[in-house]
Order: sequence, then structure tokens, then C-alpha cells
Amino acid sequence: MLKRDNYIAIVLAAGQGRRMQSKVAKQYMSIHGKPMLYYSLKAFQESIVDEIILVVGEEEVDYCKEHIVERYGFSKVKTIVTGGNERYVSVYNALQTVEDEIVRGNLNGDNQYVLIHDSARPLITNQIIEDAIEGVVNNKAIVIAVPSKDTIKIADETGTIEYTPKRSLTYIIQTPQAFEFDLLLKSYREVMKCTSLEITDDAMIVEHGSNHSVKIVEGNYKNIKVTTPEDIKIAEMLMEV
Ligand code: CTP
Ligand code: MG
Repeated sequence: MLKRDNYIAIVLAAGQGRRMQSKVAKQYMSIHGKPMLYYSLKAFQESIVDEIILVVGEEEVDYCKEHIVERYGFSKVKTIVTGGNERYVSVYNALQTVEDEIVRGNLNGDNQYVLIHDSARPLITNQIIEDAIEGVVNNKAIVIAVPSKDTIKIADETGTIEYTPKRSLTYIIQTPQAFEFDLLLKSYREVMKCTSLEITDDAMIVEHGSNHSVKIVEGNYKNIKVTTPEDIKIAEMLMEV
């Protein structure tokens, strides 16, 4: 049984969705009549997490509050934070909000865990959330991932293959990614001192900013990231099965 502890979900929705090439940012596009962001918030609302921090673009705060959070009764969304130009900046803004709450005494600083999730993954399930929590309580830093079905090749900038990692050791990394709060915040501050790194997920922060290991927790192949136009149709289909 999972113990109700201090679990905070950070749901990211401050991206531009450039690869989707749509007028409306992808996190607000309709999937079975509801905005994509609705599905991630619903999953966390109905889960064991105590609180949700929603990260959105500056212009979308009022819209999200009224048309998503209030409209659907997502009472666990206690704070809406504005994001930054890069995903890792959006995450960092949310982490600073968590720190402020701890300093103010509104949150317990001990046993504080954060689950970071892309709203572009509307197929997240309660099972995934529970597995992520169980994993992070045991290892302090975990990512949800699935074994790669395809062979992965590492190439150089010219598109020439350099090597082929053993397929059984390659994984497709998803979200949520979950961390002990202190470990993640310290790692962020360490990594942000040198900005040459292209940071594409939060595990990289812990890999580069601490000596702590990051463990893989097996997720679900359906938990796809909606990135390009065909993914909207795939997500709609997957929700039906
Ligand atoms: N995200 C964010 N802040 C950013 C960039 C991304 O909160 N500055 C969020 C997105 O809203 C998305 C998640 O991070 O839910 C994963 O990012 P990605 O799939 O790359 O979305 P976008 O950055 O919006 O899309 P693209 O890269 O195609 O522009
Ligand atoms: Mg992006």
C-alpha cells in the first residue's frame, strides 16, 4: 500500500508545440471533445498526489484557471505558474514555487517528492503514477520508460552511424519522472551553472548535477507523447482501447 506522503505533481503545459504546426498550442487541442491538458490533470486529480502545480504560458493563466481548472473541478491545482522559453526553465519555475511553499511552512520539506509530467502525454494512467511513486520512494530519482522495440543507433552530426547500443539496454523515456525534491533542486542549481548542455528531460539534470543514480520504472507503450499531427489521431484511438 502506498502511504499518503508529500507528493506534488508538476504538469507542464507552457510549450509552443511547434512540431504540431497548429493554430492552437497542442496542449489545448481537442481530444474526444476535451483539451489535451484535461487528461493529465484528471489523472493526477484522481491519484494519491496531494497537490498539482500547473505550468502554462503567461498569456494562458486566466484561460486555464477558468476554462480548465475551475470548469472541471481540479481542486488539487493549488498554483498556476508561468513557464519559460525552455522546458527545463518551466520545471525550474515550478520547483522554486515548491521551495517558497516549504519556506513559508505550507509544505513539509521532509519526504517531499515531485512528479514531473508533460501534458503532451494525455494517456498517463493511475497505475503509472502509483508505480512512479513506489519507485521514487525507493530510489529518489526515477523515470518512466518502455524498452525500445526498435534498434537505436547513435550517429554523428553528418548522419553517419557511430555505434549501435545493445537493444535490450535501450529504453524510450517518457514522463512522469519523479524525484526527491531536495535532490532535484540541488541538481538543477548545479547544472544551471554550466549551460552548454542540451537538457531534454529532468533525469539528465540528476545525471549531470549529482552522483545519484536514476532508475527506470517500466511504464506503458500507450503513454505516447503527442508531438506531430498524426499523434492526435493515435491518442484518440488509444483512448478508446
Ligand atoms: N514545455 C513547457 N515549457 C517549455 C517547453 C515545453 O512547459 N518551454 C512542456 C510542453 O507543454 C509539453 C512538454 O513540456 O507538455 C514536452 O515538450 P514538447 O513535447 O517538446 O512540447 P513543445 O515544446 O510544446 O513542442 P515543440 O517542441 O514541438 O515546440
Ligand atoms: Mg519542445
